[in-house]
Amino acid sequence: MGNMADADALIRPAGTAPDWTIPQAWKDYTREDHATWDTLFRRQSAMLPGRAAREYLAGLDILRLSRPGIPDFEELSDRLMKATGWQVVAVPGLVPDAVFFDHLANRRFVAGRFIRRPDQLDYLQEPDVFHDVFGHVPLLADPVFADYLQAYGEGDLRSLDYGALDKLARLYWYTVEFGLIQTAEGLRIYGAGIVSSRGESHFALEDASPNRLGFDLERVMRTPYRIDDYQQTYFVIDSFDQLLRQTQETDFAPLYERLRASPDLAIADILPDDGVITRGTQSYAKERAAVLLNP
Ligand SMILES: [Fe+2]
Repeated sequence: MGNMADADALIRPAGTAPDWTIPQAWKDYTREDHATWDTLFRRQSAMLPGRAAREYLAGLDILRLSRPGIPDFEELSDRLMKATGWQVVAVPGLVPDAVFFDHLANRRFVAGRFIRRPDQLDYLQEPDVFHDVFGHVPLLADPVFADYLQAYGEGDLRSLDYGALDKLARLYWYTVEFGLIQTAEGLRIYGAGIVSSRGESHFALEDASPNRLGFDLERVMRTPYRIDDYQQTYFVIDSFDQLLRQTQETDFAPLYERLRASPDLAIADILPDDGVITRGTQSYAKERAAVLLNP
């Protein structure tokens, strides 16, 4: 989703630069590739008004470039650079954690260059250019979110020393990938994994199944997540300022010490001091688990 690798045992593929980037080779995309992008873009951008955060929708225009189809990263980076100083660079697939964080800390977002096949519009295991660019780039045009993601990358580089990467990965997951935000008009989605998914754009906001809980950084870092299905719990921020402030003001060393001593929560737990926005029924997760047990 952010092209983070689980293991650091990856070997850098031939043809990649020392920072693991590759040329996007925009000219190599086929007409079918561009048509897939256009279909997904049309479909997803039509369903997001009234669902996605104002900041995300405001950034969506940055993807409307001079040519239709998959954005050319050079042109996209020029525009993003003017807005917030970020760039988009292509990578061949998963990259080691330290490489990923170093890119973020330097305001470079790494994106896959491949696009899903036309028969994979709704489900894809590995993040492709649609997830990475449509999902992530619009918010990078927002100055506060842009600072948050850089702060996250810097914090992660520090966490490598504490062996706390799995904990900090949860913060990324529950904000950058699957975050919700409270607004005067109601809940909105901003996480890239949601805004780029037709099914989860509905599920995250409207389904009775998942929990929706007020964001708390330490709480989030104790909560495991689903990589194979819709989330069982979503965390709701009040504003991107809140997210940036909590990340910048947290003293991570004592936090990691506390986390080491406190057990992980169960994925759908609700604690007495959680700010509960929705107490989910978990009916979706239970049905899916039952199907897995009795196929
Ligand atoms: Fe992602």
